[in-house]
Amino acid sequence: MKTALCALLLAAGLPLSARADRLPLPADAPPAYAAECGSCHLAFPPALLAAADWRRVMAGLDRHYGDNAALDADTARVIGDFLARHGGNADRYANAGTPPRLTATAWFQRKHRKVPSPLWQDARVRSAANCSACHPQAEQGRYGERDIALPELRHRREH
Ligand code: HEC
Ligand code: HEC
Repeated sequence: MKTALCALLLAAGLPLSARADRLPLPADAPPAYAAECGSCHLAFPPALLAAADWRRVMAGLDRHYGDNAALDADTARVIGDFLARHGGNADRYANAGTPPRLTATAWFQRKHRKVPSPLWQDARVRSAANCSACHPQAEQGRYGERDIALPELRHRREH
């Protein structure tokens, strides 16, 4: 019964649980997403930014955080539709700023409030957007405390 339910949820592209430490890419992710949006940084979990903010990101790819990430129109549309489909709750992921950053949202700030500010500039990290520096399993969607790479950040449970 449990297996059947899991299969059903998977088929529907729904997350198996609401656990925030497991954020694998949705099953309907077009291959272009990891290929095009995962080449300079992590292919970020779509759920961590609201749909309207993803649209803003996709509308300005030629001026992308100081880089040029322009795509042909068809690829941009496929990726944009996918991101909009899976974008997170606009209230929960408010305050993304301009240009939109998932690292600026209220949710991200709260989840990372135990990270001492100097650490964001540490040579091992350099930027909050460099998720894999602290979450080496991020590409597999794993953000659990046990997987945190920097020793000084483990055992800082925020319960
Ligand atoms: C040519 C390299 C490049 C490509 C390709 C690229 N990006 Fe980026 N992206 C960047 C850089 C550089 C930053 C700024 C990173 C930082 O602040 O450390 C960035 C930042 C971002 C951010 C904000 C991260 C934060 O701080 O929360 C988002 C969202 C984003 N990119 C989405 C995308 C999407 C979607 C695609 C594919 C359509 C994409 N990127 C493709 C280089 C790229
Ligand atoms: C400087 C290190 C660092 C960087 C960079 C970083 N994180 Fe984290 N992240 C942490 C720590 C520490 C926690 C809290 C772990 C804990 O105690 O459960 C955390 C928690 C999380 C969680 C789990 C929340 C939960 O409720 O279990 C997610 C999801 C997450 N981060 C996503 C990201 C994403 C996406 C990025 C990049 C855009 C990122 N993080 C960048 C250190 C970092």
